[in-house]
Amino acid sequence: MNIIEAIRVRKSIRGFKPDPVPKEILREILEVATRSPSSENVQPWEITVVTGKLLDKIRQSNVEMLGSGTTPNPAIARGNLYGIYRERQVNLAVQIFKLMGITREDKQKRAEWRQRGFRFFDAPAAIILSVDSSLDESQTRFDIGVISQSICLAALNYGLGTCIQLQGVLYPEVLRKFADIPESKRIIISIAIGYPDWDFPANKLESEREHIENVVTWCGFD
Ligand SMILES: Cc1cc2nc3c(=O)[nH]c(=O)nc-3n(C[C@H](O)[C@H](O)[C@H](O)COP(=O)(O)O)c2cc1C
Repeated sequence: MNIIEAIRVRKSIRGFKPDPVPKEILREILEVATRSPSSENVQPWEITVVTGKLLDKIRQSNVEMLGSGTTPNPAIARGNLYGIYRERQVNLAVQIFKLMGITREDKQKRAEWRQRGFRFFDAPAAIILSVDSSLDESQTRFDIGVISQSICLAALNYGLGTCIQLQGVLYPEVLRKFADIPESKRIIISIAIGYPDWDFPANKLESEREHIENVVTWCGFD
């Protein structure tokens, strides 16, 4: 797969086969992904890879937190969106719910879908990206974004699917407890990873993009 094709075909996968991902493959993905650029080559990423029973405990604990109505960490959760950004956000949810056969009124199924997210979509492995709290917040977030895309693209080479997920880290205390991530580390994002279940309806989603003429300003081209 060439680079252009990889960028085009990568998509968020929200339904996985239960097959485990061999540690060696995850290691190869992370080895190449850590070639990602970072500001001043600081390489702020600290990567925790979780699988098996430990990941199941994290899923369970996340779902319990959600069920008990615990507020997701406000420092991590996204604030409200407005205008075109809100439209795009709603549009995504509408498309996913349509594929999953979840109606607007079906509160139970909507809640179950939300739970799936907090369970890392039942992926066989999850990658948690953290940085040292001493590092500048905005710069390191940018660097983590760069490596996240590298991980997702590299995963394609092994037939793996990914979903970058804020949901997975909204209860950082769960990750700190089970995956031994100390308070001195700022947990930024998670990536669910595994072999895609192509029969899973939500995996059929082709998310929309704005036409580039609406987002690009050409300067000096005449
Ligand atoms: C920083 C970040 C956080 C995300 N968090 C979630 C999440 O919590 N749950 C989810 O289902 N998708 C999440 N996504 C996936 C986006 O919804 C997805 O990338 C977007 O809709 C575009 O679709 P695509 O990845 O299929 O191209 C996240 C993506 C990014 C970059």
